[in-house]
Amino acid sequence: MTPEQHEPLVVPEPPAPGELLAVGREGDRVAIANVDGTFFAFQDECTHEGCSLAEGYLEGHVVECDCHGGEFDVRTGEPLGGPVHVPLKTYAVVADADGLRIELPE
Ligand code: FES
Repeated sequence: MTPEQHEPLVVPEPPAPGELLAVGREGDRVAIANVDGTFFAFQDECTHEGCSLAEGYLEGHVVECDCHGGEFDVRTGEPLGGPVHVPLKTYAVVADADGLRIELPE
């Protein structure tokens, strides 16, 4: 058995309003969206063919993948349009004086 990792991901410099940022390790990256000062975290890897969603576009609560135009609701991870059908994993975000903490599952 291997030890599980429960450490939160700490993000000292969150994205500005209307922007996206990818954090974390290769193969396990998390995208953060700043929607009018509220932060949402979700898997960075698009469920279509794996492109980075942080390299896409944020329009309100919708992130659009730069590769083939798939769209997801950043609040829920639900697919909204384009060639995507599988929802994104989403993660809880806590904002405090040190930045953001993202609670990742084991
Ligand atoms: S990889 Fe995101 S829409 Fe195709």
